[in-house]
Amino acid sequence: MPGNSIGQLFRVSTWGESHGKALGVLIDGCPPGIPLDEKDIQVELERRKPKGVAGTRRREEDKAEILSGVFEGKTTGTPISMVVWNKNARSRDYKEIKEVYRPGHADYTYEKKYGIRDYRGGGRSSGRETVARVMAGAVANKIIRKSRISIIGHTVQIGDIVANRFQAREIENNELRCADKIAAEEMLDLLSEVKREKDSIGGMIELIIKGAPAGLGDPVFDKLDAELSKAVMSIGGVKGVSVGAGFKSSLLKGSENNDEFELRKNRVRTRSNNAGGVLGGISNGEDIVLHIAVKAPASIGIKQKSVNRRRRQVDVEVKGRHDVCIVPRVIPVVQSMASIIIADHLLRQKANQ
Ligand SMILES: Cc1cc2nc3c(=O)[nH]c(=O)nc-3n(C[C@H](O)[C@H](O)[C@H](O)COP(=O)(O)O)c2cc1C
Repeated sequence: MPGNSIGQLFRVSTWGESHGKALGVLIDGCPPGIPLDEKDIQVELERRKPKGVAGTRRREEDKAEILSGVFEGKTTGTPISMVVWNKNARSRDYKEIKEVYRPGHADYTYEKKYGIRDYRGGGRSSGRETVARVMAGAVANKIIRKSRISIIGHTVQIGDIVANRFQAREIENNELRCADKIAAEEMLDLLSEVKREKDSIGGMIELIIKGAPAGLGDPVFDKLDAELSKAVMSIGGVKGVSVGAGFKSSLLKGSENNDEFELRKNRVRTRSNNAGGVLGGISNGEDIVLHIAVKAPASIGIKQKSVNRRRRQVDVEVKGRHDVCIVPRVIPVVQSMASIIIADHLLRQKANQ
């Protein structure tokens, strides 16, 4: 079965390749009457663009066009279709690797699966595919904001440098989207060093969903944490997702890990949040907290061993325009995927009642 769609009631399908004509998304199930403008989509696409020392030199205009589903500035309840045309696709950068499988990329696996691959910039496996996710996320975000839900994403680690402070207003103030100004400076120094070595580096994102009501998530297979994890894990380069205390919870005793309940302003609240806002796959009204491990981008300017399509051992040095670290660019994509899942589950919960 093809895997290009996500969500049940808020159904998102993406299409397009890195160096094809365009990238696009179809959203079926968006409720009518939501104010929607191309500017709303553009704001999010701008956040996804590469910036500064971490980013690639491929500069795309990424101008969103809404083709259907919106009339007089409002969604109509009919399918919303959106497109971004590729304009800066320099396919010649990739001719040399047409015959070679790049280490860490999906070249070999795509060829094994389909018997044919669009080798230009990784085709559908490219990070550019996420343009379509971000467009859908911008629409989903409008739905969740109506329910006073917001989603924060920030960099908590690059290489071995860890952020220790959290100042929300810092996040969009530095190119790494790090809430710790001092750590961000150290991270930037590290990135410059890694760039000089023609290498790349990974890191960790923290995602916080604020204001989600208790009751979202459909056990047993569509538990909210399972749905969020799958959505985030489907982003290229994401290699790990944990919820709440995550892997650390394996080290804690029950007395340490349990979140005790208390009444606050007549609401049932927890005194800690090791569960990350989800119990039994259902949101409990606390912040939903995920940690997302992002690998170092595979394209590096260092010679590496590989094999070509004729089964010969070769050396490969990836040319083209690549990111030293994709963590800050993955943040808007993670937020978009989380928005899509939360919007879908808000609609599912409404349909349940
Ligand atoms: C926004 C975004 C940008 C990306 N940019 C690059 C890049 O410049 N170089 C690279 O090697 N990988 C990049 N990636 C990651 C690759 O798409 C991904 O690692 C590759 O397709 C293999 O998939 P996997 O790592 O999930 O197994 C990017 C991913 C995202 C989400």
